[in-house]
Amino acid sequence: MSSKPKPRILLMHPILDPGPAILAEAAEVVEYSLDLPLDEAYIRQAAEGCVGIVSQLMDPIRDGVLSTPGLKIVSNVAVGFDNIDLPAATAHKVMVTNTPGVLDDATSDFAFTLLMATARRVVEADYFARSGKFKGWAIDMMLGADVFNATLGIVGIGRIGRGMAHRAKGFNMRVLYYDPQGLPPDAEQQLGATRVELPRLLAESDFVSVHVPLTPETQHLLSTPQFGQMKKTAILINTSRGPVIDEAALVEALTSKKIAGAGLDVYEREPAIHPGLIPLPNVVLAPHIASATVRTRSEMSAMAARNMATAVRGGRPPNLLNPEVKK
Ligand code: DGY
Repeated sequence: MSSKPKPRILLMHPILDPGPAILAEAAEVVEYSLDLPLDEAYIRQAAEGCVGIVSQLMDPIRDGVLSTPGLKIVSNVAVGFDNIDLPAATAHKVMVTNTPGVLDDATSDFAFTLLMATARRVVEADYFARSGKFKGWAIDMMLGADVFNATLGIVGIGRIGRGMAHRAKGFNMRVLYYDPQGLPPDAEQQLGATRVELPRLLAESDFVSVHVPLTPETQHLLSTPQFGQMKKTAILINTSRGPVIDEAALVEALTSKKIAGAGLDVYEREPAIHPGLIPLPNVVLAPHIASATVRTRSEMSAMAARNMATAVRGGRPPNLLNPEVKK
């Protein structure tokens, strides 16, 4: 007796163990050709005949892809899902899932790493030491900014923003946060964080760290007027999404010394980085690696694969973003 063929799914990019085995048990996995551009028309073509797509944050999953006949689920291997048109998915009755929770600590760790590295000029100092310029200790060499006892402003107090506040406690920092949602008073007290409006946060913070999702409301949340409200000594950290910051305005603010520095993991037109950022010594640039630890990336892979496997078997995946699609 021949067994029923497994449903087909499209894997846009390789994922880490144990993800592939989880997928292979539930479905026939078709891999997206590495030679094809990440263009909607090509993705649509590759998705023909597939019930699911395992996507990543650089894959544009919009109406043209979501209208593929028979498509039931898009499982994004990321907590952010701004690469997917969620209302269009809901309209086409396609489930969308993400990977919340498993990357919070790695991302908060990295935001704090960028904060420390920028404040204490670690990358610049490393280049200096390697280049043979270090000729001996000097009282005024590589002076940076104090982190201990400084004021940290957290924009967006979700899980990763709260992780940042938690880490700031160890540095005895005063923590301000801006978030339209706010936290219950006991959570504020536990974190030692005070809710303020954005202008006050910008005016009083030595470090401003951004932890909001990209939505139409948060696009260019920080631009020329906001940089003008910050301290001249302030350092901006972004590990959320690039378009939350107006990158051209940031370059202008850094070059005209409206603010002192920036630590960035994400960019407005990723993977392109604004050319004005490249020569600036007061900027630390990373290639979107805040969640890149061995454990975190394999947990993200496993979670995305489990979301997919559950949906393919007819179940309701645990991290469903549009529950109205699957009653
Ligand atoms: C996400 O998951 O949204 C991050 O940007 C990558 O881990």
